[in-house]
Amino acid sequence: MPEIAEEKKKIVLSGIQPSGDQFTLGNYIGAIRNWALMQESFDCLYMVANEHSITVRQVPAKLRENTYRALASLLAAGIDPQKSIVFIQSHVPAHAELAWILDCYTMFGELSRMTQFKDKSSKNADNINAGLFTYPALMAADILLYQADLVPVGADQKQHVEIARDIAGRFNGLYGNTFRLPEPYIPAVGAKIMSLAEPERKMSKSDANENAKILVMDGPDDIMRKFKRAVTDSYGEVKRGEDKPGINNLITIYSVATGKTPEQVEAEFEGKGYGDFKRACGEAVVELLRPFREQVEDLMKNRDYLDQVAAAGAERAERLALRTLSKVQKKVGFVPRP
Ligand code: TRP
Repeated sequence: MPEIAEEKKKIVLSGIQPSGDQFTLGNYIGAIRNWALMQESFDCLYMVANEHSITVRQVPAKLRENTYRALASLLAAGIDPQKSIVFIQSHVPAHAELAWILDCYTMFGELSRMTQFKDKSSKNADNINAGLFTYPALMAADILLYQADLVPVGADQKQHVEIARDIAGRFNGLYGNTFRLPEPYIPAVGAKIMSLAEPERKMSKSDANENAKILVMDGPDDIMRKFKRAVTDSYGEVKRGEDKPGINNLITIYSVATGKTPEQVEAEFEGKGYGDFKRACGEAVVELLRPFREQVEDLMKNRDYLDQVAAAGAERAERLALRTLSKVQKKVGFVPRP
């Protein structure tokens, strides 16, 4: 697609899984809101990674609903389908096709070392399927198909971008330059929003404890209640400290929600207690999420529009993907379809 090839802007690709009913505040602040900001400086592709989601069992009707909700969330976060290519992974068969080829250039040993595989296979001991194991090759395909330069991800996905880079390097070494080598791009702010209940752990959408996570569709009452219950410490001072993971996390959240620096936040709450601070955090997050939540709700009532966005996105993505895929097929010796 000329609009991407001719400009010299770097190419950004990222994906988010539609598993779990909705995103958390962490996904919103750390991921999709940054993706929207990146549209100004880069040529971006953003994908709903539904093929990745079936590595863990899903209820089909829910997966379908969540896929639409994920798409709506990308749009509501400010990703503009005119500017960026927004699509659903399974709509572009080239992902699965390239993943198979890359499987054959990815080593058993490499995949065995992936932290997420070890983690997820211990959590899903009754379903350690081959897809869970080869997931990084599919993710490498997602990235390499579009010759992405930068891949914005959370810290937990950095290893997967690194293996994509290794696979690309190996393939290029064997067949000549085919893939651009991608780099992980970890946003400086809000990259890690921690659990409100166990602030040593990342806020996770699959956490069974409702009070541990703020979901993007939570209403004001839920949000205020969850902040009120957030775990803090016995120092009683709104100040960051190494042994204060709870307060550190609340300061991060408040500073991201209000645009103030952590120093300004500390100054604002000097001499005030945790009760006041938690209330302020709740109010700031309510205001941050309100327009987002309302827009997702509106978009979810408009399936036709979401389908149009998905169709246009898939078409633009596929055109780019097929260029890389056909190059790869030629290099490995596949006979072109006559
Ligand atoms: N594996 C990522 C996650 O679970 C989602 C993902 C799929 C992705 N394909 C990608 C992220 C390509 C970046 C690039 O969060």
